[in-house]
Amino acid sequence: MIKKPFLEALKGHVADHPPFWLMRQAGRYLPEYRQLRASAGGFLDLCLDPIKACEITLQPLRRYDMDAAILFSDILIVPFALGQSLQFLEGEGPCLDPVRSADDLSRLRLEGLLATAQPVFEAVSRIKASLAPEKTLIGFAGSPWTVACYMVEGGGSKEYAHVKGFAYRDPQGFKALLELLSHATIDYLCAQIDAGAEAIQLFDSWAGIVSADDFEDFVIKPTVSIVSALKARHPHIPIIGFPRMASLGLADYLRATQINGLSLDPGVPLSWAKEHLQAPMLHKGLSVTLQGNLDPCLLLAGGAVMRRAVEKILTVMQGVPFIFNLGHGVIKETPPSHVAQLAALIRGQESHDA
Ligand code: CP3
Repeated sequence: MIKKPFLEALKGHVADHPPFWLMRQAGRYLPEYRQLRASAGGFLDLCLDPIKACEITLQPLRRYDMDAAILFSDILIVPFALGQSLQFLEGEGPCLDPVRSADDLSRLRLEGLLATAQPVFEAVSRIKASLAPEKTLIGFAGSPWTVACYMVEGGGSKEYAHVKGFAYRDPQGFKALLELLSHATIDYLCAQIDAGAEAIQLFDSWAGIVSADDFEDFVIKPTVSIVSALKARHPHIPIIGFPRMASLGLADYLRATQINGLSLDPGVPLSWAKEHLQAPMLHKGLSVTLQGNLDPCLLLAGGAVMRRAVEKILTVMQGVPFIFNLGHGVIKETPPSHVAQLAALIRGQESHDA
């Protein structure tokens, strides 16, 4: 059987060169994506078109031969499939009809989720059928807290005052929202796994704005319920958690969730994570693979400044289970040649500074 370097790393194996993929590796920095996007109705139409979603997923692998493909979709498909209205407005990002009360919540329906999201699962099957045997297909979802942020705010936000306002004003109602999202996410991810996803990443992009006293209830508990349900049904599917900017919450998150991989934002020194997050787990006989965490702005800059940062990461993480990635998604202005330079550096190939 052909071994998949990405899955091997998640089992705790160490290779000469770490496997790599990039968050938002498919998207607007690629001219072939922009071309396909222009011919489709909009971003949501792309996500719900299995043939186009499959094509976009594979675009970055054709150029850079990453070790893993991530399903082209969005974390907001879950609220959309629960019945919340969703639009992606040009230049503004997502726009949803906000959910701010028990009444709004009562209009969301778990029952229609799998049927509405069916094109996503069909995209997963298509991608899986077209991937080379040494490549891994990553499925994903947002974590309940982060998805709730968008659902309650009605889009992106600076202060996240509505979502926190809901949580503090009506703790029972907010708990019900997080529980609904946990159930929805479990069904949604199990369907991705049944369709062919071989690993899962849970994006908790806004974990870092939660106050220390709420971190357990808003971030850890919903994640634990998802991880334990997935592990009960699909024990061999590895799960990577990405609690972005969780800083002092990282150790508790790791201990409580027992995820296989921990994706780190650029603010976490990898040498510290290796010593204080990874090593204590290894001592207990539990392996955790670290992933990350090059600043996407260094990929945007390219050249010698990026090369030095990549070399530092590779040196620090030599000899321990590691997957190379960015600390957040590829920025849309990134020149594609910088991604080629990055791929060459990770593989230890000769590279001319772009
Ligand atoms: O990583 C990948 O290549 C897979 C595809 C993917 C997308 N979104 C495609 C996308 C994944 C994994 C996501 C996750 C996602 N979506 C997150 C978590 C990760 C993160 O970035 O923090 C979040 C918070 C969202 C919600 C979302 N989707 C926002 C806030 C936006 C608008 C902001 C922006 O960059 O325009 C989107 C749109 C979106 N999702 C695009 C893509 C390629 C841009 C759509 C376009 O205009 O073509």
